[in-house]
Amino acid sequence: MKIAFFDAKPYDLPAFKAEGERLGIDFRYFETKLNPDTVSLAAGCEGVCVFVNDTVNAEVIDRLCDLGVSAIALRCAGYNNVDIEHCFGRLHVFHVPAYSPYAVAEHAMAMLLTSIRRIHKAYIRTKDFNFSLNGLTGFDLHGKTVGVIGTGKIGRIFIDICRGFGMNVIAYDKFPAADSGIEYVNLDELLEKSDIISLHCPLTEETYHMIGKDSLEKLKTGVMIINTSRGALIDSEALLEGIKERKIGGACLDVYEEESDVFFKDFSGHIMSDDTLARLISMPNVIVTSHQAFLTEEALENIAQTTAENLVGFFRDGSCQNELCYRCGNVESCRRERKERCF
Ligand code: NAI
Repeated sequence: MKIAFFDAKPYDLPAFKAEGERLGIDFRYFETKLNPDTVSLAAGCEGVCVFVNDTVNAEVIDRLCDLGVSAIALRCAGYNNVDIEHCFGRLHVFHVPAYSPYAVAEHAMAMLLTSIRRIHKAYIRTKDFNFSLNGLTGFDLHGKTVGVIGTGKIGRIFIDICRGFGMNVIAYDKFPAADSGIEYVNLDELLEKSDIISLHCPLTEETYHMIGKDSLEKLKTGVMIINTSRGALIDSEALLEGIKERKIGGACLDVYEEESDVFFKDFSGHIMSDDTLARLISMPNVIVTSHQAFLTEEALENIAQTTAENLVGFFRDGSCQNELCYRCGNVESCRRERKERCF
């Protein structure tokens, strides 16, 4: 089984090499991302393995079909970069529904604490033997209200962590979980009441720019915003304006809507052409990490194992666990109900 592995990074290789040897998969690693210009690298492979910023649009899908590729294995949970509808009937698509929700929830809290306790500033100061405390005043999390948008696997772990800090948790979810003990409110109420807002819902047409110009007006002055989900949940220009107007007290961003050309690469010593990102990073109350929340040893091992088992299941055993399909018009429910190949 030959699989073209796009956007390969050094930290991907140990776990995928081990799984490849264990299950007899010949992964062919390419540093470049999958897009219309690079799709021909998949020639001779039965499948492709892609990550969050590979482009799997109609053009790429058509070319993959022409090359005889029959499966796309996403080595991530989110699939907003894949035209699932266009794949239907032609290419089977698999993802890794969960690899370490703890990794992402813990990173969200790490960013929040770093920001509000000014750890990023203190670290640089003491490295320079500057032991002044001026400008490092933070605030207690205890007793603050945190609004969690999306109470799935990651959102719920983040809620548990926040409760451990003695925070008051409110949440909004389009599909609230029954008997979860979570206090659900509508989105407007969450925006109005929260001291801290953390985003844990998927990116869909409905959630695109859910934090934008209109919602900013409803926010408490000084609110902290955490986004470890998908960049385009937030309108970055509106966020920047909110920060400049002192409406937003701080932002912790592990994702950014235009991240695909920037994140995972070293631009130190280069001119940053994305003015919005450069301006956001220049703000003292903004912390940016480059889609790093998932990056733990446990998560990397789980990703490699599930991706390899998805491929073996499809190509050798005919089972399709974790397949995403468009048939039901609802990707997730289709996946749960189906025990066999969708087409
Ligand atoms: P999940 O599927 O378990 O939970 C998502 C929740 O969002 C569900 O409860 C769902 O009902 C809710 N939701 C769906 N549509 C909504 C809407 N319109 N408004 C409000 N809530 C809505 O997903 P999980 O595993 O908790 O992941 C959440 C997100 O985290 C993923 O969609 C992905 O984009 C992101 N993620 C980021 C990573 C990183 O490294 N930064 C790594 C893994 C996931």
